[in-house]
Amino acid sequence: MTQNAGIIGMGHAYPSGILSNADLEKLVETSDEWITTRTGIKQRHKAAENEYTSQFGTKAAQQALERAGLKPEDIDLIVCATTTPDQIMPSTGALIQAQLGAVNAAGMDIFAACSGFLYGITMVESMIRTGQIRYALVIGAEVLTKYVDYTDRSTCVIFGDGAGAAVLGPVPEGKGILATKIKSDGRYEEQLYAPGGGTKLGTTHETIDNREHFFKMKGNELFKVAVRSMSDISAEMLAKAGYTVEDVDLVIPHQANQRITDAVASRLGAPEEKVYSNIAFHGNTSSASIPIAMDECLEAGKIKEGDLVLLTAFGGGVTWGATVIRF
Ligand code: COA
Repeated sequence: MTQNAGIIGMGHAYPSGILSNADLEKLVETSDEWITTRTGIKQRHKAAENEYTSQFGTKAAQQALERAGLKPEDIDLIVCATTTPDQIMPSTGALIQAQLGAVNAAGMDIFAACSGFLYGITMVESMIRTGQIRYALVIGAEVLTKYVDYTDRSTCVIFGDGAGAAVLGPVPEGKGILATKIKSDGRYEEQLYAPGGGTKLGTTHETIDNREHFFKMKGNELFKVAVRSMSDISAEMLAKAGYTVEDVDLVIPHQANQRITDAVASRLGAPEEKVYSNIAFHGNTSSASIPIAMDECLEAGKIKEGDLVLLTAFGGGVTWGATVIRF
C-alpha cells in the first residue's frame, strides 16, 4: 500500500518594487512594443537592495502553512528550488527553515533553474508515497534581478522576482499527484548559464570585468528546445495518468515567454482559455513561476476541487518536466 501525495496549501509573495517596460527603455535600447510583442511581458517585480530570496520564500511558505492548517513544526522537509540563493552556503532551504521555526524539518535546495519546483514536487511526492515523510514544503524562490545584466537587453527584459510555496502531504486515493517526470540535458549548458563565481572560473577581477557572474542566454535556440521538451513530456505524463488533453481543466506552464506558452498549448491541442498566463504582470520568475501561477489560480477560483491540472516547466541546464495533479 502506498500513500497518495498532493498539495494541501499554497502561498506566494513578491517584492513591492516594479520594473516596467518604460523603466527598461531608460536603461537599454529597447521598447515597450518590442518587449510586449516578443515576450508578452509588461512589468516584473524587483527586489530592493536589502531584500533577498529567503525572505520571499518564507513569506510564501507561511501563507501555504496557514492555508494547509499546519504549524512549522509539522513539516519534515523543506525543499527550496532556487537559482538565486541568498548565499553559496548554507542552503536557502535551511535559511527558510530557521525563519519559519520549522524545527523538525530538514532544509535543502534544488538547483534546476525554471524546472526547480517540478523537481521538488517529483522528489517529495515519492518520499510521501513511500512513507519516508508526512508533510513537506516545496518552495520556488528567486531574486533574479540581482543576477541580471542591465547592460544586456536580451536578458534584462525577461526576468522578475518572487516566490511561491506548496505544502505537500497525504491525500485520498485518486487525488493529488497522478504522474510526474523530470529530465535534463547538460549538453545545452551554454543556452542559459552564469559561468562565473563557481570552482571553474572562480570570482576574479577578470570574471567580474567580463560580467561572467551574470546570466547569459541564447534565447532563440532555447525557444525551440523549450517548446518541444514541454509539449512532449506533457503528453507523456497525461498518457501515463490515463488522460488526454481534453480531460485537463487547466494547464499551468512555466511563464517563460507568451510565445512559448502559445506554442506549447498549440502543440498539445489545449484551447487558450484553459492555459493560464500571468507573464504580463511578473515576467519570468524561474522556479517561482509555477507556484505563483497556481496560487493565483486557487485564489481566483480557477482551480476547484476535483480539477485536473497539468504543470510543465523548462529551464537552464537544460531541465524540463511535467506533473499531472487531481485537486
Ligand atoms: N529590445 C529590442 N531588441 C532586442 C532586445 C530587446 N530587449 N533583445 C534582443 N533584441 C534584438 C536582437 O539584438 C536582434 O537584433 P538583430 O536582428 O539586429 O541582431 C533581434 O532583436 C532579434 O533577436 P532574437 O534573439 O532573434 O529575438 P527573438 O524573437 O528570439 O526574441 C527572446 C528574443 C529572448 C524574447 C526569445 O528568444 C525568447 O523568449 N526565448 C526564450 C527565452 C526564455 O524563455 N528563457 C528562459 C527559459 S526558462
